[in-house]
Amino acid sequence: MTGNFSINGTEIPISLRGDEVLLDVLRELGCTEVKEGCREGACGSCLVLLDGVLVNSCQVLAASALGKEITTVKGLGTIHQPHPIQEAFVDAGAVQCGFCTPGMVLATFALLKKNPRPTEQQIRHALDGNLCRCTGYVKIIEAVKLAAERMSADA
Ligand code: FES
Ligand code: FES
Repeated sequence: MTGNFSINGTEIPISLRGDEVLLDVLRELGCTEVKEGCREGACGSCLVLLDGVLVNSCQVLAASALGKEITTVKGLGTIHQPHPIQEAFVDAGAVQCGFCTPGMVLATFALLKKNPRPTEQQIRHALDGNLCRCTGYVKIIEAVKLAAERMSADA
C-alpha cells in the first residue's frame, strides 16, 4: 500500500507491505530520535504523537499512520530552537544518557497540553509509562514542574 506520512510537518510518500511497525519505519526514514527500547509497549522510549495523541510507536502498525500527522520530539523543538520543555529538562539536569529523553519530553508535552499545572502525583502518573535507567526520576519530575511554571508564566 502507498500513501503519505506527515512527519513534523513534512510530507513523505511511502510504500508499505502492511505489517511494518511504525517505530521501524520511522527509524528507517532517519527519525533516530524515536528510540527503540523494549518493543513491548513498556518503556516509552519510542513515543510519538499521532494526530496529537501519544502512542508507543512500537505498538502501532505503520499503515495506521498513513495520512496522519506524526510528531517526534524534533517536531517540538531543535537544538537551535528548543521547546521550553526541552530547555527545562536541560536546566533541571534531567538528561543523563538521554535515551529516555525524547519520550519523556513528548509525554510531558501531552500532559501539559491537557493539564498546564499538574500536581506532582499527576506528573508521576503521566510519566509512569516512561522508564529511565539513569536519573532516578527526581530531576525529571523537577523538569516537568519547571516547564509547567515557565509555560504558564508565558501563557
Ligand atoms: S520500545 Fe516501544 S514502549 Fe519500549
Ligand atoms: S537519562 Fe538515561 S535512560 Fe533516562
